[in-house]
Amino acid sequence: MNKIKIGIIGTGFIGNVHGRIYSRDPRTEIAALYDIVPERAEATSKTIGGKVCSSREELLENCDAVLVCAPNKTHKEIALHAIAEEKHVFCEKPFSIGIADATELRDAANKGSCVFQVGHNRRYAPAYVQLKHLLQSDKPHSAHVKMNRGELVNPIWTGDVNVTGGFLYETTIHLFDMMRFQFGEIEELVAYGSQHEYPELDEFSLIFKFKNGFHCTFASSSDASWHFPFERIEVFCHHRTIMTEEMERLLDSRGMDANFETHTWHMTEKEERWGYVQEDRAFINSILDAIPPPVTADDGFKSVELVESVYEAIRSGERIRFE
Ligand SMILES: NC(=O)c1ccc[n+]([C@@H]2O[C@H](COP(=O)([O-])OP(=O)(O)OC[C@H]3O[C@@H](n4cnc5c(N)ncnc54)[C@H](O)[C@@H]3O)[C@@H](O)[C@H]2O)c1
Repeated sequence: MNKIKIGIIGTGFIGNVHGRIYSRDPRTEIAALYDIVPERAEATSKTIGGKVCSSREELLENCDAVLVCAPNKTHKEIALHAIAEEKHVFCEKPFSIGIADATELRDAANKGSCVFQVGHNRRYAPAYVQLKHLLQSDKPHSAHVKMNRGELVNPIWTGDVNVTGGFLYETTIHLFDMMRFQFGEIEELVAYGSQHEYPELDEFSLIFKFKNGFHCTFASSSDASWHFPFERIEVFCHHRTIMTEEMERLLDSRGMDANFETHTWHMTEKEERWGYVQEDRAFINSILDAIPPPVTADDGFKSVELVESVYEAIRSGERIRFE
């Protein structure tokens, strides 16, 4: 069997994470790398191999599947280019920025015959897989979700709204997608936001109501320190709380006393604990078995729609309803 040739666009932090994983997968080979800073692609090539390309065109001529790992604002243009060249695409989150771009990219991805997967890695993290498993047998009533960051400094573009699209696109979008994965489709939301540390809205308090009657509160801060756990989901069921702490731990407390069971993944390697290994495997499975990827362009679109709806709710002071 011919190996699937992987091309990576943007060989920074996450491009190297995926690159390392695919360099160990016997079904793939790292074929091509492109970064607007050529030294970065050269450094990556030294560790995992791959031809260092001097343009996106050259990269696309040398691969079957493209990983879009450049900063947020570039995703739409790069992904559209790869789709037009009939490449399979793995697009890092966020899917794109703004409803117009997200619609254009979703429609192009859905028209093409190649696989298009969005990098919402947390869906594959064992802690969140376990949470979903537990919620299959116990109907959740409500939840409190938190998704914080310590700073918008590292990498430096995370504080530039013209590159990220805003803090919600950079960070919070991970658990916006997670809410749909765990609890279903959203019917209505109320949002408050304010600006303190950075020149954009950087602090959020939100309430979501779901089509199935479930509801939750959601807090997100850009400058909360990296206090553990920076992300957490507390779900309340019938005499039961299930709580995740980042992707390290899940605590499950049942009944009328204070007993709880702890599941922990602290000994699992980070690439797997955070779901990167599993999402990369799923992308190749989709290509080889011609099956839809677990996180589609439609999912990517919905996470962008949620981000935009929260910003709109804050701007207008109105609650937003989804049909
Ligand atoms: N799923 C996750 O957990 C996760 C984690 C980190 C980053 N991300 C996402 O991945 C993307 C990259 O983030 P990062 O932390 O790796 O950033 P980074 O700054 O470490 O790397 C980005 C790289 O892209 C290069 N680049 C910039 N514009 C380019 C272009 N037009 N063409 C080719 N290369 C270009 C830069 O030179 C840099 O080397 C972002 O969209 C981010 O939101 C996702």
